[in-house]
Amino acid sequence: MNASDVLDRWTAELASVRHDSMALAIGVFARDGVALYLNQGMAVILGGAAPDQPRHHYLVNPPFETLVNLDGEGLIFNGWLTVGDGYQRIHTLRARVWRKTGHWLIAGEFDAPELDRLTRELVRTNQEINNLQRELIRKNTRLSQTLDELRTTQAMLVHAEKMNALGQLMAGVAHEINNPLAFVIGNLSCLRDSIETVTQAYQHLEALAPTEPAAVLRRRYDLDFILEDFTELLSATDDGLARIRKIITDLQTFSRHNEAERKTVDLTENLRSTVALAHPELRRRRVEVRWALSRLPPVECDPAELNQVFMNLIVNAAQAIADGGVLTVGGEPRAEGGVRLWFQDTGPGIPPEIIGRIFDPFFTTKPVGSGTGLGLSVSYTIVVKRHGGRLEAASVPGQGATFTIELPERLP
Ligand SMILES: Nc1ncnc2c1ncn2[C@@H]1O[C@H](COP(=O)(O)OP(=O)(O)OP(=O)(O)O)[C@@H](O)[C@H]1O
Ligand SMILES: [Mg+2]
Repeated sequence: MNASDVLDRWTAELASVRHDSMALAIGVFARDGVALYLNQGMAVILGGAAPDQPRHHYLVNPPFETLVNLDGEGLIFNGWLTVGDGYQRIHTLRARVWRKTGHWLIAGEFDAPELDRLTRELVRTNQEINNLQRELIRKNTRLSQTLDELRTTQAMLVHAEKMNALGQLMAGVAHEINNPLAFVIGNLSCLRDSIETVTQAYQHLEALAPTEPAAVLRRRYDLDFILEDFTELLSATDDGLARIRKIITDLQTFSRHNEAERKTVDLTENLRSTVALAHPELRRRRVEVRWALSRLPPVECDPAELNQVFMNLIVNAAQAIADGGVLTVGGEPRAEGGVRLWFQDTGPGIPPEIIGRIFDPFFTTKPVGSGTGLGLSVSYTIVVKRHGGRLEAASVPGQGATFTIELPERLP
């Protein structure tokens, strides 16, 4: 029996399925399961995995045996039919089965609305997964931002603690030195008076009784020279003491600890003190400091904190210059109120590829053990976050770097 003979017997049944179907699977089977006819769709879904198996074995639910044992003639089954080998290929069809004189016609359709529903479901699930993923990415970003913030805060704390300890130490040392310094200065002035008196008395004595032995003694002890030298020694000692006193004042300005944090000050004095404190470092690296300060209007600030910023910038400039160069410290009022300060050095400058990172905590190009990379990040926090100002770096490589601080008139 050829295929068209087989199908000729089912024209009425086939007419009922063919026209409303998207994907149609049609098969005609004999009782023993032998396929008398398979259309392309049925051949594909029954075909594949194990072509040597009897085709009807692929009818999984209900199985072929159940179908052939259903009573009646004509339409004997109308429902879902699952076709497949049980694990790899599975198709569920909306199927009808007719029985006619010992042959079975199975016509199944892939259920289009069901497929549609499943596709929609899939799309929705996909969207949900996408949303979840987006959420995950967002949370991850937030987490790493928080981590960054924590790192910065930790760096700040470490640095603040260090500066605090250093400040206290310096304030203590300054205080300790101040007391003996006061009496050394006091004593020196008494000593000067006494020496003047002794000198006068001696000259007086000699004038009264100019004897030969006295002249011999005078030469032996080189008294003429000593008396002359006294004046010079005393004025050199005066200079030395004045310098010590200046250093102490600078130390105290730098580390003002007991004072209120907010003050309205002219920062000129702070700049000068900080440069003076950095003097040893500047001299060691043969840095000449030039001033370009106009009259600065007072600004509301935390002077001790700003001193730290100045110190960081001055030390960075000295370290960049390394051996011989100029650091210009400038300042001027801003048109909109507040001040603009700058520190310009003749060092090698900052390469463009790192200038965006120099304010990051722990970013340093200095050898291990010599820089922690905190100076600029701490300075940035002090100027920008605490004072509502701006801190910017500009550099033309080979021509040095300029750090500019802008401070508003009042704290935020
Ligand atoms: N004036 C400058 N000239 C050239 N490079 C600079 C200058 N100032 C800073 N930098 C660069 O910026 C980096 C970061 O500076 P920062 O002050 O934050 O850290 P550091 O000086 O390396 O270490 P620390 O200040 O903690 O001792 C420096 O390592 C250096 O590469
Ligand atoms: Mg530094």
